[in-house]
Amino acid sequence: MTSKNWPALEGIAYGGDYNPEQWPREVWDQDVALMRAAGVNFVSVGIFSWAMLEPKEGLFDFTWMDDLLDLLHANGIAVDLGTPSVSPPAWFFHAYPEARVTLKDGTVMGFGSRGMASHASPEYREAIARMATALADRYGNHPAVVLWHVHNEYGVPVAEDFGPRSVAAWQRWLQRKYETLDALNGAWGTAFWGQRYLDWDHVVAPAATPTIANPAMKLDWARFTDDQLRECFRIERDILHERTSQPVTTNFMAHQSWNTDLWKWAQEVDVVSDDHYLWSPDPDAHVGLALSADLTRSVGGGKPWILMEHSTSAVNWQGHNIAKRPGEMRRNALTHLGRGADGIAFFQWRASRSGAEKFHSAMVPHAGQNSRIFREVTQLGQHLKDVAEIQGATTKADVAVLYDWESLWAHDLEWRPSDDMQFRERMRAYYERLWRDGVQVDFAHPEADLSQYRLVVAPTSYLLTASAGRNLTQFVQNGGTLVVGAFSGIVNEFDAVHEGGFGAPLKEALGLTIEEFLPLRSGETCAVHYGAEALPSDAWAEDLALAGAEVRGTFDGGPGDGLPAITRHSLGDGQAWYVGTRLGVTALAPVLADVYADAGITLLDRPETLEIMTRHGETYDFVVVCNHANDDAHLSITGTDLLSGTEIDGQLTLAGGDVAVVRTAKEERGGGR
Ligand code: GLA
Repeated sequence: MTSKNWPALEGIAYGGDYNPEQWPREVWDQDVALMRAAGVNFVSVGIFSWAMLEPKEGLFDFTWMDDLLDLLHANGIAVDLGTPSVSPPAWFFHAYPEARVTLKDGTVMGFGSRGMASHASPEYREAIARMATALADRYGNHPAVVLWHVHNEYGVPVAEDFGPRSVAAWQRWLQRKYETLDALNGAWGTAFWGQRYLDWDHVVAPAATPTIANPAMKLDWARFTDDQLRECFRIERDILHERTSQPVTTNFMAHQSWNTDLWKWAQEVDVVSDDHYLWSPDPDAHVGLALSADLTRSVGGGKPWILMEHSTSAVNWQGHNIAKRPGEMRRNALTHLGRGADGIAFFQWRASRSGAEKFHSAMVPHAGQNSRIFREVTQLGQHLKDVAEIQGATTKADVAVLYDWESLWAHDLEWRPSDDMQFRERMRAYYERLWRDGVQVDFAHPEADLSQYRLVVAPTSYLLTASAGRNLTQFVQNGGTLVVGAFSGIVNEFDAVHEGGFGAPLKEALGLTIEEFLPLRSGETCAVHYGAEALPSDAWAEDLALAGAEVRGTFDGGPGDGLPAITRHSLGDGQAWYVGTRLGVTALAPVLADVYADAGITLLDRPETLEIMTRHGETYDFVVVCNHANDDAHLSITGTDLLSGTEIDGQLTLAGGDVAVVRTAKEERGGGR
């Protein structure tokens, strides 16, 4: 991370995206009065305001923004000031039509919606620099501004650009990376299918091709696209750093983003911020929320972060936009807090009457202030004041889950052995098992220092470099416990199968390699005999070549009938488990129970639906307890529930759907191994 410090606010930041340019001036006064009533102390403005701030090229109009920032400041509301680079105005695309994004099939994206111009466009880069400079010079010393919010959700709605300028930038990028065409040809394996390049200008982008494009090229293209987005971010960030004193962020989308490698992005911002929306087809969407929050905290190195956007109720962009029921928003917001957020914000303050997002919920809904949603918004504002002392408290975990965007990119390319093996599905299944078991986790990059963890879980590590393999082997040798999911350790950073075969980088740790994949037909199932249990499994089996691992589970039925499915291997002071099939959340339970025993992890006696998150402050611990069931739940704990003000003497009884934030004596624990 870079140098400028967050927090700039005392207590938890609370608010949302505020887009007052949609409303007549008198509504602004009502807005700030309502914000104060709701306990709002932080709003993001200007994110989509380019057309209002620079109505003609080079001609700025800051009068309305001056008025807005002064009004907010006079009412004690801090500002996260957006740079509007996500949404260039109509005049820009009219003047520079070549700055539009070209899709893979050659379609050129038009104006009339939102989304950035081509990241490779010099006119776009010049225009965003001009805007960032003007904003920095105008508001760099404005007392309302505590944070800069560059762009919005890099990578959506469109990240890739296949236009000629982008392809030229791609060729330069490749030249910097590989230096020689021999190196590029080797890395991409262009000897196959006659793809050999003899001239840098002939290197194409993976646009429309008759059949699949070279996968190593596609993987590099994903890296290039991510780099280009980050280059655009840096243009603005550096201007802001040079000319202002406030920290800079851009809002991530953790597990919901595809185009951005957040391990890299988190190094570029002063404070990590994230947007999260419940995925309505998922009946347990709160588990996805927890995953996203843990991932966000982890990419930021464990520091407190800001939840920049979530929703008070329904969104408007899913197939079925499910409204949150009473109490759900409170559970969602406080779960983010429990998992490390020191700021809680929404999209958006007041529901839009017009435009694309009028059916999206807001802090002030169309029903107005006399509504359930606004009452809950106000209650949450009070809660966040009541828990202000949690600010800065950190989390600790004994378990790391490996997450690598490069592996996601490579995994999701075409022509894999089975469409049923999906990165996100596997990540979620293992995470959900850990969540249901009440195990607090961090996420980690496979090449990170893992020595603070007892257990490392690698649900899906298709791309695993040789050095990551050595890192994991060392971790086991030093006494750690490792569990690896199927289809891991298959390719290197060029999407080339490892020398030594499938699983070679983990051979020493796992005591095996994979001789052949044996995917199942769609809908076909088999079982794994594990101790006395028959665990249902599907999608995937393997023919393992054991090299020291002991067999703990065996396939019953399916293509792997009678072959080893689950193994355990001791190496040095540690153990490494391998699960060579697809097990669901329930079937993973007995396996992970044994893994926990190896790792010396003991589980708290609690119902699965009672989510417990601990943040460690300097003087106290803060335990956020969230009851996702309909019935009362009980937890042994002593302290004060900061939400209700009640003293808890040994046992907390939490009603169905309720949340408590218990300030308690600091836990005596060493942590780590
Ligand atoms: C994204 C955007 C917001 C808004 C919300 C709606 O997160 O950043 O501007 O469109 O989605 O859910």
